[in-house]
Amino acid sequence: MTDILIEQDGTVLSKVHSGEKVADVAPYLADYKAVYIVYDEQVARYIPSISGLPNVHGTKAIRATESDKNMDTVLDICSWLLEDSADRYAMVLAVGGGITSDMVGFAASIYKRGIRFAYIPTTLLSQVDAAIGGKTGVNMESYKNMIGVINQPDFTYECPEVLETLPYREFVGGSAEMLKTFIIENNDGNYAKAVKVLSAIYGSEDRPATIKAHRQELLDLVHAAAAVKAGVVSRDQFEKGERRKLNLGHTFAHAIEKEAKYAISHGEAVAIGMVMAAELSDRLRLTDGTCAEALRKDFSACGLPVESPYAKETLASAMEKDKKAENGTMHFVLMSGVGDVIIKDMKVSEAL
Ligand code: GLY
Repeated sequence: MTDILIEQDGTVLSKVHSGEKVADVAPYLADYKAVYIVYDEQVARYIPSISGLPNVHGTKAIRATESDKNMDTVLDICSWLLEDSADRYAMVLAVGGGITSDMVGFAASIYKRGIRFAYIPTTLLSQVDAAIGGKTGVNMESYKNMIGVINQPDFTYECPEVLETLPYREFVGGSAEMLKTFIIENNDGNYAKAVKVLSAIYGSEDRPATIKAHRQELLDLVHAAAAVKAGVVSRDQFEKGERRKLNLGHTFAHAIEKEAKYAISHGEAVAIGMVMAAELSDRLRLTDGTCAEALRKDFSACGLPVESPYAKETLASAMEKDKKAENGTMHFVLMSGVGDVIIKDMKVSEAL
């Protein structure tokens, strides 16, 4: 599979490599003098396949939950690197989902004013979204991702092996971000292809076996979604305009996640948020009026929730407190159909 490049002004900032298994990352690590692996303790099973490489100087397990996503964990990673005298030629490899890559990417970005880093994302969500584009950081108090930098990993290495052991609820959460990506850019009919594969998995009696049976299609879809995201990031790395499209559904989703105290996962909330964005688009007559209904049908077939458990008034008050709200106005990502999204600045009171 060809590498995907994130480029700016003719310079390659980052690459996305693909392979079959975690162990197949070895050639991409060969040129680094010293590799330090930081991994989510929940994916420890993959580490023996890479920890024996001659240039791996150490491995460290971390807990990767929203409440561990803080400066204490980042400083703990930095102390570990310092204790081993990791110098500026060291490279830190994060193995885990988005929380792991956000924290490790940030630790590497500040350790000795910045050393190199790379990711092996082990969730569908991080393969299509979090591990591409260079957003790193941690939560502060009750605010998500308040401290951080945009800094690109040397590479992200993606392989289907990790999806076969992913808890199904996490798989479904990631599928929301995959569908989001194809709603933003629907090259080659990828949205319909994704709905077909994801609904076949959801509807099957043996989901792990069905994920395995669709290994190649999933790899192709992950690759296509990663390419869409890499294109958006190449054009607008620092989210001055186009990159905001990647927040489709997120304005509503953040309010839902906050109200649910994170009992509704990010991906699930994004699915509900996309349906709400489609409802708003229908109401504003940006669509033919059937967009929300079509998304509801597709998302339900893929096992995603489509209705907010919270009243609009409750969500409006949470959205007005969102760090991205300016005088009650936010950037809403709306759509005129699959493959065609627009950004509109609106008051929260007009949107709900
Ligand atoms: N997750 C959205 C972005 O990376 O911009």
